[in-house]
Amino acid sequence: MIGIFDSGVGGMTVAHAIEKALPEYRLVYFGDLARTPYGSKSPETIQKYSRQNIEFLIKMGAKLIVIACNSAASVATEHVRESFSLPIFDVIEPAVKRVMSLPICLKKKARIGVIGTRATINSGIYPKKIAEACEEARIFSQECPLLVPLVEEGWLQARETKMIIRRYLSPLKRKQVTALVLGCTHYPLLKNLIQPRIGKNVSIIDSSEELAANLRTYLLNNSEFAEGLEKGGEHTYFVSDVTDAAVRTAKRIFGRDLELIYHKGI
Ligand code: DGL
Repeated sequence: MIGIFDSGVGGMTVAHAIEKALPEYRLVYFGDLARTPYGSKSPETIQKYSRQNIEFLIKMGAKLIVIACNSAASVATEHVRESFSLPIFDVIEPAVKRVMSLPICLKKKARIGVIGTRATINSGIYPKKIAEACEEARIFSQECPLLVPLVEEGWLQARETKMIIRRYLSPLKRKQVTALVLGCTHYPLLKNLIQPRIGKNVSIIDSSEELAANLRTYLLNNSEFAEGLEKGGEHTYFVSDVTDAAVRTAKRIFGRDLELIYHKGI
């Protein structure tokens, strides 16, 4: 099974993309709703939670892990790779790879915007990884802490949401970024507001789609490992708390009702 975890249900944007790209594989998801949000927590706490989430997914039969949460990926991927021997994917590496493959980024002096939670932006992981791939790229980061609650409230078209997006994106627009990384699980749901605000010619990088495509390539290139993964059957979506808002957000992401199964996770 492919195990996916997130701080809540936002990571279902990643699970949904994986479902579409790899329909034959069985998924087990864990959304840590009881301890969400991760985006405002310290790296040490996020690392501890990430370890516990992976242990839980392994117990449930996962043979490969996807860290769908950008906040967790930004501070915990390297840390958990040292503790676990199974393959661990995250949303950051594929997004960076995609940025670097854009025609505009192949030229020198690409101007790249990154938006995310406070934990993700404070970690500096995107500028670090992008700079490793392209020394001359200019990277402009912006934390957007209000966007997660707005998505969870379902304010996807609200005037207030548009105003807040305008405020967050204005500095990046002034910097004339040519690509914008959506460095948070929830932001793909706001893509329709973000694209016109940042500019229609700016390439928007959605980590969920990039990760699903990378995972597909990995499994095609590692057929022996892929054969050992469970296929068919129902996907399972565990959460450490069931709330009305989570049920609504999950439905919004999948476009269908989804059964969220309570499990404390640790
Ligand atoms: N899943 C988180 C992320 O992608 C957003 C929600 C949270 O802060 O926990 O960064």
